[in-house]
Amino acid sequence: MKGFFEKDFLLISHRGASRYEPENTLRSFRRAIEMGSGVIELDVRRTLDGHLVVIHDRTVNRTTDGKGAVSGKTLSELRSLDAGKGERIPTLEEVMGNFSGQCGFVIELKEKGTEKQTVSLIKAHGLIKDVVVVSFLKDCLREVKTLCPDVITGLITVFGIGCVRSALLLGCRVVATNHHFMTRRLVSDAQRNGLLVCCWTVNDTKRGEKLAAIGVNGVITDKPDLLRA
Ligand code: G3P
Ligand code: CA
Repeated sequence: MKGFFEKDFLLISHRGASRYEPENTLRSFRRAIEMGSGVIELDVRRTLDGHLVVIHDRTVNRTTDGKGAVSGKTLSELRSLDAGKGERIPTLEEVMGNFSGQCGFVIELKEKGTEKQTVSLIKAHGLIKDVVVVSFLKDCLREVKTLCPDVITGLITVFGIGCVRSALLLGCRVVATNHHFMTRRLVSDAQRNGLLVCCWTVNDTKRGEKLAAIGVNGVITDKPDLLRA
């Protein structure tokens, strides 16, 4: 059987099946896998008491019934919040513990200071071949590569300008750009330089098919059924 990242085209579930379930929850990741998604994407931040949790925003305001910065709350304070449909904000360890062996993971580091624990968890769960660590933050990607050169990393950008050069300098294998700015030229430039190209966040089937036709290696979508609709 092929590894999670060896498919011809990757359909990556953005914050899980986030169109259908509360984003970045175990329920959302489970649903994505049930829908046939081979890879889930998730966002990592650090709590006041130093745990890694899976949540997109800097604050809990949008996705939970609480208020305030993630970095200003302890894990137990965060766990008392409802992240939707009674779900709790998961820890990164919990997500790995629940789903390793069932999918690949695109782990987005949203802030500095998350690198060391993320790499330790990847190693502890035997997931080096099953993860790509991505970030908008170049320092995070540099640090991850320093800590563990074997982990595949990916640079996220919005516009794509200069991203091939930056990704190569950072030792990345992947570039992920907003799909509005993806071009055939960028795809071929990246791939000629040995990079894989992904786009975010693609929720329209025709758009997904068009991107596949210009040769992107994968799309990040809220809808794991995007290309089956
Ligand atoms: O991983 C790419 C994409 O998730 C970046 O945007 O804001 O959804 O984390 P965002
Ligand atoms: Ca993300």
